This record gives sequence, C-alpha cells and structure tokens, in this order.
Amino acid sequence: MSNKTILVAGGGGFIGGHLVARLRQMGCTNIRSVDIKPTSEWYQVFDDVDNRQGDLKLKDACVDACHGVDRVFNLAADMGGMGFIENNKALCMLSVLINTHLLEAALASGVDTLFYASSACVYNADKQKCEDVVALKEEDAYPAMPEDGYGWEKLFSERMCRHFREDYGLRTRVARFHNVYGPEGTWDGGREKAPAAVCRKVIDACESGRNSIEIWGDGKQTRSFMYIDDCVDGILKITNSDIVEPINLGSDEVVTINGLVDIVEKFADVKLEREYNLSAPKGVNGRNSDNTLIQKLLGWAPGISLQDGMEKTYRWIHDEYVKKYGASTRG
Ligand code: NAD
Ligand code: GDD
Repeated sequence: MSNKTILVAGGGGFIGGHLVARLRQMGCTNIRSVDIKPTSEWYQVFDDVDNRQGDLKLKDACVDACHGVDRVFNLAADMGGMGFIENNKALCMLSVLINTHLLEAALASGVDTLFYASSACVYNADKQKCEDVVALKEEDAYPAMPEDGYGWEKLFSERMCRHFREDYGLRTRVARFHNVYGPEGTWDGGREKAPAAVCRKVIDACESGRNSIEIWGDGKQTRSFMYIDDCVDGILKITNSDIVEPINLGSDEVVTINGLVDIVEKFADVKLEREYNLSAPKGVNGRNSDNTLIQKLLGWAPGISLQDGMEKTYRWIHDEYVKKYGASTRG
C-alpha cells in the first residue's frame, strides 16, 4: 500500500481523518484527502498530505480527485446520528451523487480498488424491532426495508459498487459499519451519535451543576458501538481481502443506552437523574452485529471493549468541551 497513491474521500471527517492518520503511520507518502469542508473545520489535518476542498457530489470534482490515484477510500457522506438522519432524508439520499460520480471517475482513471463505507442502516427494520435483538447477519439486508432515506441510499450504493465490479471489473469492497465512536469526531451540533452525545451531556451536567440529563427514547434500546481503531483496522483488512460482498464491520458487544450512560457516569464519578424524551429520534429498538462471517473470512473481528474505547472518547470530549466553553462554572 505504501507505494500507492491513495484518495481518502471525506478525509476531513471522523473516520476519514483517522484513516489518513493510519495510512501515514504505515508509510504511505502519496495521500490525497478531499472534503467539502474548509480544512480549518477538518478533524485532523496533516501538512504532508495533499489536502483539497471539493464537493464530491460534482462529477468534475470526482474526476480531479481520482486523477492519478490507485486506491479510493470513499468515506464522504452527508450523515450523522439519529437526530440528523431522521430529519434530513433528502440530504442523506443526495450522497448518492458522491458515490455515483466517484465510481465513474475511479473507473475512468484506472483506479485499482474502491472501498465504500456502507452502514448497518441497510438492514431490514423488521429484524430490529426488539431490544433483545438477534445479531444481524449479512443476508438480513434482504428483502429490503432499510432505514428511510439514509439506509436506502446506502443499500443502493452498495449495489452500484457490486455492478461496477461485475459489469466493468472495478475492484470494489464494501463494509457495513455499525455505530462508530472515538476521539476526533462529532460530539455536538446535531450530527453526533449516542456515545459522543451521552459523554457531552454528562460533562455538561457536571460542569453546569445540573443533576439530570435528557435521554432520547426510553433508554432500553440496544446497540453495539465500535471503537475507531477497530474500524480503521477493518477497513484496511477488508480492502486487502477477497471479500466482494458487503460485510459487517461492527462490535458485537451489545449494550442498552441506559448501560452506555452508566459507563459514562462512572468516568465522571456522578449519578444523574434521567429524563426520557419519548418523542426524540429513536431509530430501531435493537441492533447488533453478527460477526460470524468476518471472523470466518478474516480470522478477526472488532474487539476493543466499550469500556476502554469510551474512556478514551470521554477524556477527549471533556478536553474539547473545556476548550470550547472554559473550565467548570461550578464552585
Ligand atoms: P463524518 O460526517 O465525520 O465524515 C464524512 C465527511 O464527508 C465529512 O467531513 C463531510 O464534510 C464530508 N462530505 C460530505 N459531503 C461531501 C461532499 N459532497 N463532498 C466531499 N466531502 C463531503 O462521518 P464519519 O463518521 O466519518 O462517516 C464516514 C462514512 O462512514 C460515511 O459514509 C458514513 O455514512 C459511514 N458510516 C459511519 C458510521 C458511524 O457511526 N460513524 C456508521 C455507518 C456508516
Ligand atoms: N444521537 C443521540 N443523541 N442518540 C441518543 C441520545 C442523544 O442524545 N440519547 C439517546 N439516544 C439514542 C437514540 O435515540 C437511538 O435510539 C440510540 O441512542 C442510538 O442513536 P445514534 O447513535 O444517534 O444512532 P443509531 O445507532 O440509531 O444509528 C447510527 O448508527 C448507524 C450504524 O449502525 C447512525 O449514525 C447511522 O447514521 C449509522 O449508519
């Protein structure tokens, strides 16, 4: 990989930024990172990387981005946690333009491999009705009834990768990420997912001397959360593998949202009252990753514990909170 020219689409974002950091550590010297945001808003920026601002919904921007590139990692999307995807379905679906134009440009430029970041939101809603969830296997995406908006776009783009591979011979690899968390990601502003949101809310309550936090839903819904280092490991392993069909990339350590709050409260050494907002965006009742296939094909699956990953995430968000709002207003 180190002798290849690599494009990270969405390199100013959470996962893209971590992927660029890892590629540099691996000795890659020709990395191009493209994002619609100005570099001042990127989570991680590296001076030795070819950093570019561009709207990859546009075909010309994709052609420029892919020029001379061997390998594309497509992590660009207009997305967020439930609070964003439930209220921005059209915006989420417009990411299809990024995926379409990148595939076309990659093919035209002679790119050797394109990795596409899909999501657990492609899975059939009927399989996720119960908190006591049966972990999702890859075949549970069909018959199709994914998350409205965002999930349909992801499922369509997965299929587009497949057809570019089958019809045109472009080597595509697709992973279905289950909720990814970690430092250097979105923790406020409306796009944040539950792990970061819960950290921020607990920190905010402590810093401002409140004794309660709001939780979306009844707190009994279940999820599995994957730490970012596992996600980056998985992206690289899947890209280098012969796995052509979309595959789960997620933790199989399932937790309720109440359980997630318990973990964060311990880091803050606090016990808060919980106000459950039953009209807030909730998504599915239960979701977990069945890792049988990835274990079989790669002999590996994400394994960083929620406790360890959340501790690092909490400490980072705490520092960011203090940078933004100043130290405690209490006492
Ligand atoms: P992120 O929002 O931090 O990063 C996505 C980046 O894409 C952002 O920096 C954004 O500015 C950029 N982008 C959006 N529109 C663009 C455009 N038109 N042109 C160029 N760049 C554009 O999100 P993330 O968590 O890093 O997610 C990366 C990928 O993984 C996305 O495809 C996302 O759907 C997928 N995914 C993430 C999760 C998760 O839990 N984080 C779960 C499932 C799937
Ligand atoms: N975001 C958020 N903020 N969620 C909260 C909060 C809060 O303050 N309080 C409770 N929750 C609950 C949500 O109601 C939801 O039931 C659960 O925590 C998880 O919410 P998110 O982390 O926002 O999203 P998700 O797990 O339903 O879906 C995410 O993961 C998918 C992959 O598994 C999204 O990020 C999708 O975009 C992603 O594809």
